[in-house]
Amino acid sequence: MSDEVKCDKPVCDKFVAVNELARRRGFYWNSYEIYGGAGGFVTYGPLGTRLKQNIENKLRELFVKQTGVMEMESSVITPGKVFEASGHVDHFKEPMVECVKCNKRFRADHLLEEYANISSVQAEKMTLDEVQAALETNNITCPDCGGGFRPPQQFLTMFETTIGPYSGATGYGRPEAAQGIFVEFNRLYSAAREKLPFGVIQIGRALRNEISPRQGLLRLREFTICDLEFFFDPEEPCCHLLKEVEHETLPIVLCEKRERCCEDITIFTVREALDKKIVRSEWQAFFMAMAKRLLTEIGVPAEKQRFIEKLPWEKAHYATQSFDQEVYLERYGWTEVSGHAFRTDFDLGCHMKACGADMRVFKEYPNPVETERLVVKPNLAKLGPVFKKETGKVGELLSKADPEVVEVALKKDGFYVVEGYKVFSEHVQIVSQKVVERGKRFIPYVVEPSFGSDRLFYVALEYAYGIKDDRVVMSFSRSIVPVQVGVYPLMSKDGLAEKAQEVQRQLVQAGFMVEYDEAGSIGRRYARADEAGIQLGITIDYESLKEDTVTIRDRDSWCQVRSQIKTLPELLQKYFQRKINFEDLGT
Ligand code: GLY
Repeated sequence: MSDEVKCDKPVCDKFVAVNELARRRGFYWNSYEIYGGAGGFVTYGPLGTRLKQNIENKLRELFVKQTGVMEMESSVITPGKVFEASGHVDHFKEPMVECVKCNKRFRADHLLEEYANISSVQAEKMTLDEVQAALETNNITCPDCGGGFRPPQQFLTMFETTIGPYSGATGYGRPEAAQGIFVEFNRLYSAAREKLPFGVIQIGRALRNEISPRQGLLRLREFTICDLEFFFDPEEPCCHLLKEVEHETLPIVLCEKRERCCEDITIFTVREALDKKIVRSEWQAFFMAMAKRLLTEIGVPAEKQRFIEKLPWEKAHYATQSFDQEVYLERYGWTEVSGHAFRTDFDLGCHMKACGADMRVFKEYPNPVETERLVVKPNLAKLGPVFKKETGKVGELLSKADPEVVEVALKKDGFYVVEGYKVFSEHVQIVSQKVVERGKRFIPYVVEPSFGSDRLFYVALEYAYGIKDDRVVMSFSRSIVPVQVGVYPLMSKDGLAEKAQEVQRQLVQAGFMVEYDEAGSIGRRYARADEAGIQLGITIDYESLKEDTVTIRDRDSWCQVRSQIKTLPELLQKYFQRKINFEDLGT
């Protein structure tokens, strides 16, 4: 049977209805309400926290357990150098305008979309001069007071701070968790026992100082990001994992169509998308198929999902090819829930250049090859007086360094820094040498699936929302439901409450998420439970005392079956693992 509740009444604005329910039932609300609120921040209540955790755990199950990816955690505040090296300081910007009268600031591309009917695809392509011209041609003024605008400027959307009391020690709140993974590549590679491919995921908070966040959970200034960086050798084919998804279909809106303002979806199997070179990396196609599975598990039917191929000017600076996974939402239409970027060796390469750490891996050739190549030769006689006891270590680091990187640094800056040791031209020589190579060193390539946990959460709420007999029923998918079972004594007297608490304990011990409720009529309790999305209601009545049985009620169909108490844990286990249907719970 299906878990879905059909709305038997049209909902005027699902976004409004879902947000109202979310506030009332403690899924989430805008933060700092008692101080008038602060845009772009939300607080998750008890039900919401659990739902969000369940969604993230589902993601872990598909992306971590099933693919052998490792998980890690790094800090949110990041030294400025990291984001200078990664290109974020230069690129993480949005066009902004400021009203001359009320000084309110707006995202210029959003104004053009809203008031000049210029699509986001066109607006993103515009230079600041073009933005200004379009604002003037379309007579766009401040939506709040009607004032004119100062010339547009680029606004850095990273939160900037100082680390400690020194004003020069710039730090940024990370706008993505990916860099926390890249900078630790050498240690993570060693944790992966120096074998490619391997993946690392980080699920944690990220910060983006959005100019004007207006879409609830869809655009936050602080949010949870799930960045998975998958490192691989571009010369090695993807392994057995691809076989598991080869026949999965990917609904894609191709660049060539989007350039002509056409949004038609073409459906490819994973295999076809690779053979036709629509998706350039096998690993990227693999993760796109897994992302589709995740959204299906969260409750979004396949026909409400699609991938759009990003146009050249829409892609993040680190991506050579990029797709957004989108889900159809009632108010906002197609909305991004995950991004799939082919980051190649861009990030590791940037960090190598910026800090001198060698992030290449060694790949052995089938047979050694004799060749001539440039090497870095440390001059130990010159290093000795400077580095004393550490001369050996510095020498070793230098001989492993990339000669091209060292040469460029010496030419450009007059020095080269390796792991904090600063050396000058007299300390090294770049020489050509005949060497027998056992293999080669190269920077691994990366594909990145990246999910916004808060968006997945909103999507789960909107797709669960239904109205039945004028009542809200939150029909969450069984795999993420925040509360699995409600336990209700029909009355709180005659030993029914005690019996119900016994059942509750039994189920809690078996590992279920259980809520006990004895307040009010059983009808009101069922209604409350349906709004909270509790999947099954177990009611203890007078027959329970005599026969050791209970009734089980299904949230979506409101059907009931009678079942033996002693078999409940085993049956419910199978039910939540989707091995049996509701009707099979009757014994
Ligand atoms: N790392 C993914 C993103 O920045 O969106």
